[in-house]
Amino acid sequence: MSNILEIKRLTVEYKVPEGVIKALDKIDLYVKKGEILAIVGESGSGKTTLAHSIARLLPKNARIVEGSIIFHTRKGPVDLTKISEEEMRKIRGSMIGMVFQDPMTYLNPVMKISDQIIEGLISHKKISKKDAEAKTLDLLKKLRIPNPEYVAKSYPHQLSGGMKQRVIIAMAMINQPDLLIADEPTSALDVTVQAEILELFKELRKEYGVTIIIITHDLGVAVRIADRIVIMYAGKIMEIGDVREVFKQPLHPYTQGLLGSILSISENVRKGFILKGAPPDIFNPTRGCKFHPRCPFVMRDICINEDPPLFHVGNERYVACWLYRGVSS
Ligand SMILES: Nc1ncnc2c1ncn2[C@@H]1O[C@H](COP(=O)(O)OP(=O)(O)O)[C@@H](O)[C@H]1O
Ligand SMILES: [Mg+2]
Repeated sequence: MSNILEIKRLTVEYKVPEGVIKALDKIDLYVKKGEILAIVGESGSGKTTLAHSIARLLPKNARIVEGSIIFHTRKGPVDLTKISEEEMRKIRGSMIGMVFQDPMTYLNPVMKISDQIIEGLISHKKISKKDAEAKTLDLLKKLRIPNPEYVAKSYPHQLSGGMKQRVIIAMAMINQPDLLIADEPTSALDVTVQAEILELFKELRKEYGVTIIIITHDLGVAVRIADRIVIMYAGKIMEIGDVREVFKQPLHPYTQGLLGSILSISENVRKGFILKGAPPDIFNPTRGCKFHPRCPFVMRDICINEDPPLFHVGNERYVACWLYRGVSS
């Protein structure tokens, strides 16, 4: 399977009055065409910064210090960190769709749903209003929205949270993008609605072959939907692997800790301990491995002094931990 996205050494900083925050630190990651990739990490680990870097929606105080983001379009590869804003605008919307946590930041409260979806369509393709309306209705039906005619004519406040999130997904999918990035798309929803939305993502992949990056702080969400999983901590990738394999045998102590914290609901998980200690201080980055102050297996002095690279330890399995030095595939 070929890759749709290749991220190399991506490093992003934010400037704040108190100093500089390194939100992403030399991220290396590929995304395969047609897969569902989950990016998992605690709040503040850099997940949204990664999503915003790909979509080039970083705020003004952010800076890409290093790295490249190669996106394979149908016409060939482009580096998303290098192209002009105009080229990026074309890619965003037509080739990369986005869904974010809070639908209301993306929905205009005084505009009918159908008009909002159509707006996205017309700005990218020449199409009559009538055809656009038909296409919108068709998409709402595909997204299993009950009473699509009614929803199309509604204003956002008339819809439930789950329905609003479906509308946002419709907006992201209207131009049939190759890549869909969903940042905590179900975090604001209750569990049953969350399950429905996750099903919907799977159906979209089946129906359109769209590649999906789903970002979540919830391992349960990842295991339900993803093919591969990426574990992030303090702006670094700690582990990458097939989602079932990572659950069966988490390699990184941090992953083991995360799984340990959901042990009670997943009895199949054998390894695991409860994470202790505080998340990292953003202004005083830890030397060496970012996780070493909380790691029960910390080895003096290497973990304290040297940041481990992402070791390739098996078929599509990577882990950034000195315990696995010398274990290569
Ligand atoms: N606009 C911003 N300005 C300054 N710092 C930010 C900004 N956005 C995020 N950060 C900081 O960058 C780090 C990563 O944040 P973020 O990417 O939002 O993580 P996550 O999505 O995993 O919760 C955090 O330390 C956060 O405080
Ligand atoms: Mg976030």
